Amino acid sequence: MLYDRHGRRIEYLRLSVTDRCDLRCAYCMPEGFKGYEEPANWLNFDEIERVVGAFGRLGVRRIRVTGGEPLLRRNLPDLACRLAALPGIEDLSLSTNATQLARHAQALRKAGISRLNVSLDSLDPVRFAAITKRDALAFVLDGLRAAREEGFGPIKINMVVMPGVSDDEIDAMVAYCGEQGFVLRLIETMPVGQTGRNTGFIPLGPIRERLRARFGLVDGIVPGGGPAKYLVSPDRRFQIGFITPMSQHFCETCNRVRLGVDGTLYPCLGDNDSVNLGTLLRAGCSDAQLQSALLEGIGRKPFKHEFGEDPAKVIRFMSSTGG
Ligand code: GTP
Ligand code: 5AD
Ligand code: SF4
Repeated sequence: MLYDRHGRRIEYLRLSVTDRCDLRCAYCMPEGFKGYEEPANWLNFDEIERVVGAFGRLGVRRIRVTGGEPLLRRNLPDLACRLAALPGIEDLSLSTNATQLARHAQALRKAGISRLNVSLDSLDPVRFAAITKRDALAFVLDGLRAAREEGFGPIKINMVVMPGVSDDEIDAMVAYCGEQGFVLRLIETMPVGQTGRNTGFIPLGPIRERLRARFGLVDGIVPGGGPAKYLVSPDRRFQIGFITPMSQHFCETCNRVRLGVDGTLYPCLGDNDSVNLGTLLRAGCSDAQLQSALLEGIGRKPFKHEFGEDPAKVIRFMSSTGG
């Protein structure tokens, strides 16, 4: 098993397979952003499989595929199949905006993706288009329908709650998710680089207590590897997660690291430190050298994130590591 120097077990890798996205959520990607990674620097599937295999041998058992928008990476189900077959990998999941999910849901399920998290901030087409800068709500809802038919584990809906933009839609989202059998997760917006700064965030504590009273919810457990804390109704119709990096951070229970599309290993979402695995892999490193680079990355995990007031503290954007 793998532990960092603060005694936290590291068992979860968030794997970004592209930094591109077909949406433009302001909290995730800066307007007019063009600084994408060159495809020539992307890890290919063999390299990704090698890194994930090395993590698996060290004790990482959960892999979450992210982007940008991961379904923009060509032949993603082929990669998923290879990752699902690696020794030690027990939980293979995907975070997507679902615009292309209808076409891919069946292949992804067959490839071994067992859980899906879908970003959806509004059920109103006009508002959805204002948030994402694309008129794509109908595609997302189609994608969710297709995913439901494929029988993925609990499908979770991620709603970044933005003051004055989407906070009045929480009850509508609770109702929609209750009807569809989805788990709703409410998220406080994080400032990562320039992203997530202009939207502001709403502390979720008071909203949690209001929903607890209104729907008769109690503390509960929903399968997953992330930082959400859940309230559920006794009949499990309503399952609502709260992700509160700003008002009540969860760094003491952090179990994860991130890998960027170019092989950059990020020990923490809210910190600039990184270890470059891409160069190492292309230099023909041995398995022992790769393993010691992974251990160095884990060893550099800070105790907590440093979002802070200063955008210069974290230079990358949310879109480059998929949250
Ligand atoms: P489950 O395995 O289903 O629990 O998934 P998850 O919540 O880990 O993944 P998802 O991609 O759905 O992320 C949900 C939210 O949690 C996003 O806003 C992420 O940015 C945020 N998040 C995930 N990991 C971290 C973390 O290590 N630190 C912080 N601050 N936020 C995180
Ligand atoms: N703060 C919080 N969550 C964010 N996400 C993207 N940007 C931010 C941000 N600035 C979320 C998206 C997606 C998840 C992977 O990360 O809603 O569902
Ligand atoms: Fe794309 Fe997801 Fe970022 Fe929105 S939150 S821009 S859907 S990667």
